[in-house]
Amino acid sequence: MVSKTKIAVIGAGLMGHGIALTMAQAGHTVTVQDPDSSSLKSLESRVRDSLNVLGVFGDESESIIKRIKTENSLTDAVADCDALFEAAPEKLELKQSIFAEIETHAPSDAILASNTSVIQITKIMTNLKTRERALGTHWWNPPHLIPLVEVIKTKWTDDAKAKSMFDLLAGAGKTPVMVEKDVPGFIGNRLQHALWREAISLVEKGICDAESVDTVVKSCFGRRLPVLGPLENADLVGTDLTLDIHENVLFDLESRQSPSPYLEQLVAEGRLGMKSGEGFRKWTSEEAEALRKKVGSHLTKLETILD
Ligand SMILES: NC(=O)c1ccc[n+]([C@@H]2O[C@H](COP(=O)([O-])OP(=O)(O)OC[C@H]3O[C@@H](n4cnc5c(N)ncnc54)[C@H](O)[C@@H]3O)[C@@H](O)[C@H]2O)c1
Repeated sequence: MVSKTKIAVIGAGLMGHGIALTMAQAGHTVTVQDPDSSSLKSLESRVRDSLNVLGVFGDESESIIKRIKTENSLTDAVADCDALFEAAPEKLELKQSIFAEIETHAPSDAILASNTSVIQITKIMTNLKTRERALGTHWWNPPHLIPLVEVIKTKWTDDAKAKSMFDLLAGAGKTPVMVEKDVPGFIGNRLQHALWREAISLVEKGICDAESVDTVVKSCFGRRLPVLGPLENADLVGTDLTLDIHENVLFDLESRQSPSPYLEQLVAEGRLGMKSGEGFRKWTSEEAEALRKKVGSHLTKLETILD
């Protein structure tokens, strides 16, 4: 399975185009399916633009693009695939109906993966007859620039199928991590939103403003994170010091199990972030665009300095 193989990608949007280009860049042939012809029509130019961001141009770029086909029909797209990534909209019933159709038409040994952000894979795959070949692959945006893909097993997933998917992703240059239990948020979003919960709480309680929260993260422990994970850091400072710190601070951290009223108020007031000009902070369209570009160029440069 790790050798050159046939991949189907369901959904030609933001995530689908990046998954398709990553797998095609690794030498696999890819069929991308989407019921919306305009998404399929723009796919080639979006893939070309993203390859350019990765520094891939000319003949190399064109030969990758040639390995990507587009298809309107789900049945035809999955007919001879070895592995499939579903990246359709984040709606449970839609994903369930897509997988019901896929199960009928894909080869019986094809690995079926959903790229859901937060829906439990168990819920998406519950009605399938062949649940042992179904799992989650949580790619991060932009999929061609963020190395991580979480491979999520349900209680039904066959270990060998999960390992095949893990190896397929590693072979395509990604950094897969196995998630042994299908919990909400998997690993990355649990960690990320534990931080966001505290970040919002600091502002809500008037301890600092939103800009200060972001400054602290970006100019402090955020600097170490690409090379020093939290548990490596705990080992570096010592588990004894970590225990002392937790005894003195955990009791005061935000622990509510529902969204912050402050966040709910922002949404109710239409302060939706960059798209409305204000969220936690105010944004002109130029500032928002500049930050988006900065993230892209930062992620590209980071690849060149990390070993
Ligand atoms: N955007 C992110 O940051 C991100 C990150 C990780 C995971 N995800 C998840 O990936 C999935 C796709 O997200 P996205 O950001 O690419 O969305 P998107 O809106 O950019 O793309 C979705 C695509 O699916 C197509 N589509 C609609 N109905 C379909 C159907 N029945 N069959 C096949 N395709 C259909 C749409 O035409 C569109 O092209 C979602 O489950 C999302 O939660 C998104």
